[in-house]
Amino acid sequence: MKSYIVEGGNILSGEIEVSGSKNASLPILAASILNANTTKLYNIPRIQDTKITLKILKLLGCEVKSKKGKIVIDSKNIYITEIPEELMREMRSSIILAGALIGRFKKVKFSYPGGCDIGSRPIDLHLKAFRKLGIKIEEKSGFITCTCDKIVGNEISLDFPSVGATENIMLASIFCEGVTYIKNSALEPEIVDLQKFLNKMGAKIEGAGTSIIKITGVKNLKEVSYNVMPDRIEAGTLLCAAAVTGGNLKLKNIETEHIEAIIDKLRDMGCELEVEKRQVELKSIRKIKAIDIKTMPYPGFPTDLQSIFSAVLTVAKGTSIITENIFESRYKCMSELKRMGAKVTIDNRIAVIKGVRKLTGSNVKATDLRGGAALLIAALSAKGKTKIDNIEYILRGYESLDKKLNKLGAKVYIKDNK
Ligand code: EPZ
Repeated sequence: MKSYIVEGGNILSGEIEVSGSKNASLPILAASILNANTTKLYNIPRIQDTKITLKILKLLGCEVKSKKGKIVIDSKNIYITEIPEELMREMRSSIILAGALIGRFKKVKFSYPGGCDIGSRPIDLHLKAFRKLGIKIEEKSGFITCTCDKIVGNEISLDFPSVGATENIMLASIFCEGVTYIKNSALEPEIVDLQKFLNKMGAKIEGAGTSIIKITGVKNLKEVSYNVMPDRIEAGTLLCAAAVTGGNLKLKNIETEHIEAIIDKLRDMGCELEVEKRQVELKSIRKIKAIDIKTMPYPGFPTDLQSIFSAVLTVAKGTSIITENIFESRYKCMSELKRMGAKVTIDNRIAVIKGVRKLTGSNVKATDLRGGAALLIAALSAKGKTKIDNIEYILRGYESLDKKLNKLGAKVYIKDNK
């Protein structure tokens, strides 16, 4: 297991480029199954989750070459339609491969993706949608087998604008007979990126970014090359690192329209932000002000930045009220923040954070990807040294985060506890 050793108290300032989006890359990598041809992808972040996805594609029979952020996948010779159980467990978002495999091969077998540290993560909306597309689903001893003669286009209304279910329905419907409509679809920018990629491959999809997406079935797809969008959650994380240490940060290669809710909250906290189309400059102030945050589906405040903003608010002036509306247990990192001196009380989906003057470096453990990043943000401004264990969680979703922060003036080292 690896740990971060963080020396707190350094002001983070300078200029940094945001990496490609993890949550856009994963469905786009899965979609490369569909064209039985070559897919060239650029700006894919080199993180554990993309590595696992590439490993699964290879196991299914794809040819995969990757160098310096460019990935070439040839999905012509896929001969397996079963997602390996151990890899399903390692990365629950591999459920997105199911939609692509059933879309092309009309069959797929996978194990129930385990819940994770932020909640039970059910897939009922995915399965309900698959059934509406004419797919037969068999659940036996923890495995799910999906089969059909053809995918029949249909109208699917989602009970909740689930990102993964929206993406899975898009992938499963690419070759459908007729037309599929997704109503109450997720509006996230990663869905728009997936639509752009699929249409470039020859699919016929419209409406991504709105609550009705229309997929008209096509007969075949062609080879494609595509540049994945920047990571809006990494952008928010880096802005919080500058804000909590009183620094000035110029963030480049970001679609600022994707982070409007984040910019609004940083301004409410007292930070000054100069916003251009593809870059944002944050000038922080001495003392952050307390604010209230309610997480919502896009374009509301993203649940993925709730714990990271909470870490900043532990040293704000005043009391902040956080309401987590998307996942049922996304406050695991709060107990670790309390070990650093944070004053937090939790009641179900509400966290009340009473700002303190400063946190104190301590030994803490990452509990999940974004909760781990929150501990790192807290450690940057804490007095003294902090050791964060189980940073494998963090390495799943951030490319070279320690290097990026150290370039800005932080002191973060990786210790391999072998
Ligand atoms: C995606 O997860 C992201 N992951 C998550 O980011 C993100 O937090 C989430 O969307 C919400 O924005 C990827 O894109 C790989 P959902 P996903 O389906 O698709 C419930 C990160 O840190 N639900 O929109 O799993 C679910 O339990 C990760 O980068 C059902 O009830 O999220 C949750 O409460 C974490 N039944 C809510 O919907 C279902 O069938 C939102 O889930 C599916 C979801």
